[in-house]
Amino acid sequence: MIGAADLVVSRSIGWQRTGDEMATVLITGTNRGIGLEFTAQFLARGDRVVATCRDVAAAEALNQLKNGQDNLEVLQLDVASTESMNEFVRQLGGAAIDIFINNAGVYGPANGKFGEIDAQVWSTVLRINSIAPLILSQMLMPNLRLGKDKKLLYLTSKMGSIGDNSGGGSYIYRSSKTALNSVVKSLSIDLAAEGFSAAVLHPGWVLTDMGGPNALIDTNTSVKGMMKIIDSLNQAQSGSFFNYDGSIIPW
Ligand SMILES: NC(=O)c1ccc[n+]([C@@H]2O[C@H](COP(=O)([O-])OP(=O)(O)OC[C@H]3O[C@@H](n4cnc5c(N)ncnc54)[C@H](OP(=O)(O)O)[C@@H]3O)[C@@H](O)[C@H]2O)c1
Repeated sequence: MIGAADLVVSRSIGWQRTGDEMATVLITGTNRGIGLEFTAQFLARGDRVVATCRDVAAAEALNQLKNGQDNLEVLQLDVASTESMNEFVRQLGGAAIDIFINNAGVYGPANGKFGEIDAQVWSTVLRINSIAPLILSQMLMPNLRLGKDKKLLYLTSKMGSIGDNSGGGSYIYRSSKTALNSVVKSLSIDLAAEGFSAAVLHPGWVLTDMGGPNALIDTNTSVKGMMKIIDSLNQAQSGSFFNYDGSIIPW
């Protein structure tokens, strides 16, 4: 059945919803790594993707996916900039977003050891990893409310688990993902009445620029696993901390 949301036409990005068979997925940080792979896998199965990145002209691999592909819209978005977020939301216009994947993130300095922490650097990482995901979600609510799936996913890390922390260190990255976990838990509660499901996803230790060359899995394996979780996500599982293989990670 086609509902009111299916009739929404995006003035800015020009897509018309045709029914329940495909999803419109918004993904941040798609020029490389896990975000790029998410984009490729959603497109490969026929979904529409609004893929965002900081520098569209330099996003070679992403622009290659765009070749001959009507279902991909690439838009500029720097989640550290309020101005960029405002402009992005303006360009999105009235488009309905079914699934939002907040993937963009930074590790911060490699030497995040006690005695070497810089407050300014820490606050930059918090802004990108913890604050922007909530601010962007707030700004996107009109688009998300029009979506049929109402699924909100946030890429976190096992390093943000307090229960799993036996190694210490990595103050900046760990705390940024712990804060994100807390934000998403509250979102899952606050938006439940409107039919939203919100969860945090640990992608595994993945071979990307961030994961480095010793990582254990490739982006294909990681994203395939997370897509299964996203497909089956429902309100009963909302507020969970998932590993990419579907298992649950302690907070
Ligand atoms: N790889 C792993 O082993 C691993 C493990 C646990 C969690 N994660 C999480 O998974 C997510 C993706 O990681 P990845 O491994 O794919 O990392 P990556 O290869 O370093 O890619 C990070 C992506 O985030 C984007 N980004 C960074 N700052 C941004 C900003 N201010 N605005 C918009 N985009 C920004 C980058 O864009 P630019 O190219 O413009 O910098 C890039 O597209 C991150 O949230 C990360 O914390 C990764």
